[in-house]
Amino acid sequence: MEKKNFLKDETFLQHPFILILALALGFVIMDPLQMGPVGGHEFKPVKHDIAPYKQVMESWPRDNHSRLGDGKLEFVDQVFGPESLEFDGLGHGPYTGLADGRIVRWMGQAVGWQTFATVTSNWSEKVCARGVDSTTYKQWKHEKWCGRPLGLRFNKESGDLYIADAYYGLLVVGPEGGLATPLTTKVDGNPIMFANDLDIHKNGSIFFTDTSKRYNRVNHFFILLEGEATGRLLRYDPPTKSTHIVLDGLAFPNGVQLSKDQTFLLFTETTNCRLVKYWLEGPKTGGTEVVADLPGFPDNVRMNERGEFWVAIDCCRTAGQEVLSNNPWIRSVYFRLPIPMRFLARMMGMRMYTVISLLSEKGEILQVLEDQKGDVMKLVSEVREAQGKLWIGTVAHNHIATLPYP
Ligand SMILES: *[C@@H]1O[C@H](CO)[C@@H](O)[C@H](O)[C@H]1NC(C)=O
Ligand SMILES: *[C@@H]1O[C@H](CO)[C@@H](O)[C@H](O)[C@H]1NC(C)=O
Ligand SMILES: *[C@@H]1O[C@H](CO)[C@@H](O)[C@H](O)[C@H]1NC(C)=O
Repeated sequence: MEKKNFLKDETFLQHPFILILALALGFVIMDPLQMGPVGGHEFKPVKHDIAPYKQVMESWPRDNHSRLGDGKLEFVDQVFGPESLEFDGLGHGPYTGLADGRIVRWMGQAVGWQTFATVTSNWSEKVCARGVDSTTYKQWKHEKWCGRPLGLRFNKESGDLYIADAYYGLLVVGPEGGLATPLTTKVDGNPIMFANDLDIHKNGSIFFTDTSKRYNRVNHFFILLEGEATGRLLRYDPPTKSTHIVLDGLAFPNGVQLSKDQTFLLFTETTNCRLVKYWLEGPKTGGTEVVADLPGFPDNVRMNERGEFWVAIDCCRTAGQEVLSNNPWIRSVYFRLPIPMRFLARMMGMRMYTVISLLSEKGEILQVLEDQKGDVMKLVSEVREAQGKLWIGTVAHNHIATLPYP
């Protein structure tokens, strides 16, 4: 038997076409010219825990009126990659963190946008303020130096603004703004590599996400492609100035939101396309459960005054992408093909559009708003319900979108 197989393999490799194919495949896998999207990275795709595509899409209602298409783009080319949107205790704002490293606030028509805070003394107008170029690859070289504030939350009583910065960790700045003070950049002696979002518990503790131990924000795409799960939910306790690991082994933990009664918090796991609950009180304390499997890749989650949760979702999952998700080895070949990422994504049937959804505490879908053509909104990062509007942030475009609501 063995001998026969061996002979068969030999003839197999002697066939010129098969030999060339084998060599070509070998070449692609080695990617010596580093032309594929993962060229030069130690790329190790792994299996991850995502609900079946068909099951999720069938259970998810569609917004056939594409109501997000009626949204308005505001402050075009005045704000660059406004990821998170926040209002202070007096209702003034929005405040938002930009790709150029600044936190700015809207002061009304007469004054416009004003720089409120920076996260590092490294920040300078000369190096960091690159205007409309900020959200392109041109900013990537500067992010690490200038900072990239992602999650923002006011402590409504003290007026202090807490900031999760992708490079400078967890920081705080007083009501007058200025240079923010670092609170923590390490946990258990190791650096916090990619702080992403936070929320403040009524007892003063801050829950925040650290998206990966292996990749920083510039390389966030590799977290999705690999399916790696080294992200964490962390907690900073101000009285002891100590940082604790709450949950480890998460696949791209992203947005964080405490519930109205603070018995639990919700966080998004972007790679696994889901919203997860972490219990803080009651019989299930310390446990987690999946609240909702989502039709795309979620970013931040924010509560409205009724205690319901808005989730910003970038689309979308496709059948082709599911095959890659379930087969790490196909991913390891596919993303080494010497073809630019945008073509590889298109070949999987992926196109960019936006879904935002309102969910109850139990995960019931209360609202689905889509821009199915991706005409108006793309790459949304956060939805805030305030002042009779939805305010919609985006990590990659130079505007804020609004939609009258309810
Ligand atoms: C939207 O359209 C699809 C396909 O045309 C249909 O199956 C679905 O029931 C519609 N959904 C709603 C909420 O009207
Ligand atoms: C300035 O940026 C460099 C490069 O990211 C970093 O190592 C350094 O700690 C920063 N300095 C300050 C004061 O934040
Ligand atoms: C605040 O409450 C959380 C959730 O119960 C707990 O983990 C944390 O230790 C508390 N912080 C302080 C400072 O007591």
